[in-house]
Amino acid sequence: MIGAQWGDEGKGKITDLLSNSADMVVRYQGGVNAGHTVVVKDQTFKLHLIPSGILYPETECIIGSGTVIDPKVLIQELDQLDRLGVSSKNLMISETAHVTMPYHRILDVAAEASRGDQKIGTTGRGIGPTYADKSERSGIRIVDLMDTESFKVQVRYCVANKNVILEKLYNLPPLDPEEVIVEYLAYADRLRPHVIDSSLKISQAVQKKRNILFEGAQGTLLDLDHGTYPYVTSSNPVSGGACVGAGVGPTIIDRVIGVAKAYTTRVGEGPFPTELDGDIGTLLCDRGAEFGTTTGRQRRCGWFDAVIGRYAVRINGLDCLAITKMDVLDTLDEIKVCVAYEIDGKRCNDFPTNAKAFARCVPIYQTVPGWKTSTEDCRALSDLPKQALDYLKFLAELMAVPIAIVSLGASRDQTIIVEDPIHGPKRALLYENGGLQQ
Ligand code: GDP
Ligand code: IMO
Ligand code: MG
Repeated sequence: MIGAQWGDEGKGKITDLLSNSADMVVRYQGGVNAGHTVVVKDQTFKLHLIPSGILYPETECIIGSGTVIDPKVLIQELDQLDRLGVSSKNLMISETAHVTMPYHRILDVAAEASRGDQKIGTTGRGIGPTYADKSERSGIRIVDLMDTESFKVQVRYCVANKNVILEKLYNLPPLDPEEVIVEYLAYADRLRPHVIDSSLKISQAVQKKRNILFEGAQGTLLDLDHGTYPYVTSSNPVSGGACVGAGVGPTIIDRVIGVAKAYTTRVGEGPFPTELDGDIGTLLCDRGAEFGTTTGRQRRCGWFDAVIGRYAVRINGLDCLAITKMDVLDTLDEIKVCVAYEIDGKRCNDFPTNAKAFARCVPIYQTVPGWKTSTEDCRALSDLPKQALDYLKFLAELMAVPIAIVSLGASRDQTIIVEDPIHGPKRALLYENGGLQQ
C-alpha cells in the first residue's frame, strides 16, 4: 500500500483497515518524517515509525531494513502506545535499518537554513543526512548499535568527522561523542528485545502463506528517483521500494493499492500545479484539518490532479485505489479536476519528469458539480449522492484504475469498501467492469 500523491493521503487509516486481514505489516522506507494518524473510536494514534497494524494484537509489525530509525522518537512512540494500552510485543526492528544520530538532525536543519529560498522544506528529522551516510557507507545500523564496543568506536569516528562540518561549514558547536554514546546505549537496551533479521522473518511468513501488508510512508511524488526532485524525501516510497526495503523479491507481491485524497495536498516546498491560494484552498485546509502530523505545518491544498494520479498508477503498477477525504468536498458548489497540463502552450497528458517543465505546468481543468450534502454517514455506494458517485467514476476513468475503498471520515467505520482490495478480484477483472463497481 503506497501513497499516490505527496504524502498524508490517509495511509494510516487505510493500513489500519487492511491490517484487519493482515498477519504481518511491514514498513519498508522512510523514518520519523512520516506521520500516520489512526482514529479508533475516541482514541487518536499518531505513528511515525511503528506500522499502523500495531493496533491489532495478533498482527506482527516489522520496521524494515529500508527505514531509518531515530531511536529516541521510536521509544517515545512505544511509550505512547503503552500509555494507551496497546501492546508492542509484536513489534520487530530490522537489524540492518540505519540509525538517525543527533548530528543527522542538526545537519538537516543547518543545510535547510543554508539553502535559503532554495530550501526543500524538510521535516528537520535528519532523514536526508541519515540516508546520505547510508549511501556513502558511513552509516550506523541497528546491528552496530547493539554491539556496544564497536558502536563506541564508530560514534567517536563519525562525530569527529561531523564536528568538522558543524564547526567549519555551519559555525555550530561540536557534539561530545561520549554524551552521544551514553544516550544511544540506553536506547539500545530498550530496543534490543525487538531486533531481528527481518528479511528472514518475512520470508518465513511468506512460506507459511501469511498475508503480508507492506506499508509505504510518504508518497509517489516524494520518491527520491521518481518524485519531484529535488523537492522529495531521500527514500523510495513507490511500490518497488517495498522489495528493496523489506528484503523480498517482487514475485511475492500479489497486488498494489494506492491511497489518494479526493483533492491534493503537499507540505514543504516545490511545484504544485493545482494549488489553490484563495478561499477554496482555505476551505479544504479547514475542513480537511490539513496540518502536518509530524511538524504541525499547514499543508498546501489544491484540486485533484489526474496527471500525477496516472503517473502513480504507472510507477507503482497500481491494481486499485483508496480515495480518502471525500467528505471534505461536501460543501462545494463545483469541483475541478486537473485532467492534463499545458506546458509552453502544448497539451501534456503525462507527468513531465523534467523538474523545470513541471514547474511551468498550467493545469487544464474539467469542472464537475458538487453534491452539497454530507457524505460522512454513507456506508455503501448506493448511499452516496449521484454527483459524488459520478465524481468517483470520473477519477477512476481518468486514471484507468478501479476504486476499491472510499473514505468519508477519519474513523474506521466511515468507509465504503467497494471491493475487498486484498481478496477481491485483480485489476483486469475490476476494470472490465467499468472502473468502479456499483
Ligand atoms: P498519512 O500520512 O497518509 O497516514 O496521513 P495523515 O495521517 O498524515 O493525514 C491524514 C489525516 O486525515 C489524518 O488526520 C486522518 O485522521 C484524516 N483522515 C483520513 N481519512 C479521512 C477521511 O476520509 N476524511 C477525513 N475528514 N479525514 C480523514
Ligand atoms: P507521511 O508518511 C508529507 C516531505 C517534507 C518535505 C520533503 C522532504 O506522513 O505521508 P524529509 O524530512 O523527508 O527530508 O522532507 O518530504 N515529507 C512529507 N510530506 N507526508 C510525509 O509523510 C512526509 N515525509 C516527508 O515535507 O517536503
Ligand atoms: Mg502523514
